[in-house]
Amino acid sequence: MKMTREQRYRRIEQAEPGEIAKLEAQISECPWRQSYHIQPITGLLNDPNGFAYYQGYYHLFYQWFPLGTEHGMKYWYHTRSKNLVNWENVGIGIEPGDTYDSHGAYSGSAIEKEGKLHLLYTGNTRDEAWVRHPYQCLAIMDERGSVTKLNYPVISSVPPGYTEHFRDPKVWQQGETYYCVIGAQRTDETGCTVMYRSTDLRKWEFLGEIRTQLTSFGYMWECPDYMEMDEKGVLIFSPQGIEAAGDHYQNIFQSGYLIGEPLNLQTREFNHGEFQELDRGFDFYAPQTMQDTDGRRILVGWMGLPDLEYPTDDSGWAHCLTIPRQLSLREGKLIQQPVAEMEQLRKQEEGTHIHATIDNEVRSFAGMDGIAYELKCEISHVDAEMVGIEFRANGAERTVIQYDCVQQKVVLDRTLSGAELAEQNGTIRSCTLTAEVIKFHLFVDASSVEIFVNDGEEVFTSRIFPSRESVDIRFFAHGGKADFEATQWDY
Ligand code: FRU
Repeated sequence: MKMTREQRYRRIEQAEPGEIAKLEAQISECPWRQSYHIQPITGLLNDPNGFAYYQGYYHLFYQWFPLGTEHGMKYWYHTRSKNLVNWENVGIGIEPGDTYDSHGAYSGSAIEKEGKLHLLYTGNTRDEAWVRHPYQCLAIMDERGSVTKLNYPVISSVPPGYTEHFRDPKVWQQGETYYCVIGAQRTDETGCTVMYRSTDLRKWEFLGEIRTQLTSFGYMWECPDYMEMDEKGVLIFSPQGIEAAGDHYQNIFQSGYLIGEPLNLQTREFNHGEFQELDRGFDFYAPQTMQDTDGRRILVGWMGLPDLEYPTDDSGWAHCLTIPRQLSLREGKLIQQPVAEMEQLRKQEEGTHIHATIDNEVRSFAGMDGIAYELKCEISHVDAEMVGIEFRANGAERTVIQYDCVQQKVVLDRTLSGAELAEQNGTIRSCTLTAEVIKFHLFVDASSVEIFVNDGEEVFTSRIFPSRESVDIRFFAHGGKADFEATQWDY
């Protein structure tokens, strides 16, 4: 049953007696709880926030509505990890409900200054006529992990020319100066990114828009993130309102990036190439990056999308975050690879290994199956029309990743993956890839899969909702043969 607006905008302490216990009981019965992904204890998770390294831990917060699976009163929930793969639930990070975040502590980012972690976020408020008034707010976390909100916003109004869709500050430091980008909508209802500058994180000076060549590209850009790698500038953002075109922009909302010359901080001129999607799967949105102490640029995304219903809604929880991915640049493209630390989740050092020629058949191998695992597969000497892997399979139920050698396309098919979701948006995702050797690197969990193709050239991230019995892994080649070499590690 849908919640009313009043129910959605309740804080935790306004829960009915027994309401949270009921959610917890439903969740404990849910077959789709993940084993190694960050997921909410109850309710709904969305964007990753405040991703930072501070005091010996990676800190990763996320948007959280504790009391249900709709988008309501958002908190920041706090998790932390020493190694990026074993995460500990810390508890509430930022609690909403004050004057400047009365209707939610929306997305934002973190930066360390003078030994404290500064959390810059959007305070969402609604007036009596339900009109939105966003404020950019600051909360400060000390060494003991206690978070104090400033009682005034650090950016208290939307500059002329922009609507109330003005949120998600992402901060970085260049020399002595702090900059932040904010996702915005112009009054003509096109999306863009604006910039501010500060010397103390408290007083912010409005600079203006990042001047991209995408002057009319969707109606709102959410969650912008700017970084420099290999002397290039990279702007990541999540535009809303882009029409599907062939294999592109098939999801309800997109996330992608522009690569260009480093952003000119004086003129805010950004000369860049075309917009490219970060992920080719069904469920990926609002990613955020951080740079860790050894200079790696690491990205985590929300493994979900707004405005869709998911099969776990009835069990009192929704969504999870992706595994962390390390970014690099290659030939004008962002390459994404699972962080090396993922190997720490392997239950066996060697794993189960196979090497076989598969000839016009579908084959399984003893000892290769499971619900939560990593699977690396290299397909070479391909003389077939179609090669691939069926996984989380049992009888007709299966999820399929395949390479169509004729059309030179990678295809993810979740038509028969289990419980249905968002079928109105299609059950197949594909992208063009030209290669002789095909490498699929899968991270499978109870209700998700992340597939890194050819060393991170493409990634397909998707939720799937198979039954617990669907554990089979099958390799196939149709219309000819190919060599398969694969290793699986249980997680
Ligand atoms: C993106 C988003 C952000 C906003 C947050 C609210 O998914 O809409 O723009 O800050 O979620 O939860």
